[in-house]
Amino acid sequence: MGKDVIIACDFPTAEETMRFLDGFQKEKPFVKIGMELYYAEGPAIVKAIKARGHKIFLDLKLHDIPNTVKRSMAVLSRLDVDICNLHAAGASEMMKAALEGLTRADGTRPLLIAVTQLTSTSDEQLKNELLIETDMAQTVISYAKNAAACGLDGVVCSPLETQVVHENCGKGFLCITPGIRFADAAKDDQTRVMTPAKAKEIGSDYIVVGRPITAAADPYAAYRRCVEEFTD
Ligand code: C5P
Repeated sequence: MGKDVIIACDFPTAEETMRFLDGFQKEKPFVKIGMELYYAEGPAIVKAIKARGHKIFLDLKLHDIPNTVKRSMAVLSRLDVDICNLHAAGASEMMKAALEGLTRADGTRPLLIAVTQLTSTSDEQLKNELLIETDMAQTVISYAKNAAACGLDGVVCSPLETQVVHENCGKGFLCITPGIRFADAAKDDQTRVMTPAKAKEIGSDYIVVGRPITAAADPYAAYRRCVEEFTD
């Protein structure tokens, strides 16, 4: 796998999600299922989308004691998703336990990706609430290095952090980047954005694209435009 566009299916119901996916008869894009849709519809929505032939990034960002995360990851692995994630803030023991839980009897497993610091966390919150004195960039690098050392496959990061993560963790360590916007479009609530073409140039491995596709007048055309800009 690699170099693909993942559509963030941030819809509240299965019905809306399926209506959206009905517009993609010709090909089966990689889709991201987040907490909103998963909590509303449960494992059934994962199975239904998988049955249509899509790859799935299940974005549930686990963060709990190692044993709980291990057992939960084993359940998610049985759903046969392609990518799962967790918070690197759960620390090494939790990340290693997650990998164990994800690994199936035949040795296969979904890719496991870490969230470093959420892009919604400000420098002030990092210092004054989380009591982390190291600056944001160094914190992100340190969390990414911990994830790599535990054997995880990559991180979710801002496209602006991709180069430094690859420098510190190796080119094979995946950078999955949201915050993607077309050059001629609105930023919505994202502040630090990048075009699909620029994300390709700086070495993102996957881009996660929500509203530029889901809210487009022609979602299929918007998806094709992302693919054409981002992939070879
Ligand atoms: O609509 P938009 O393209 O902004 O959607 C981006 C997707 O990526 C959303 O599902 C959002 O939750 C997710 N995301 C993000 N920034 C992060 C992590 C995840 O925008 N740092």
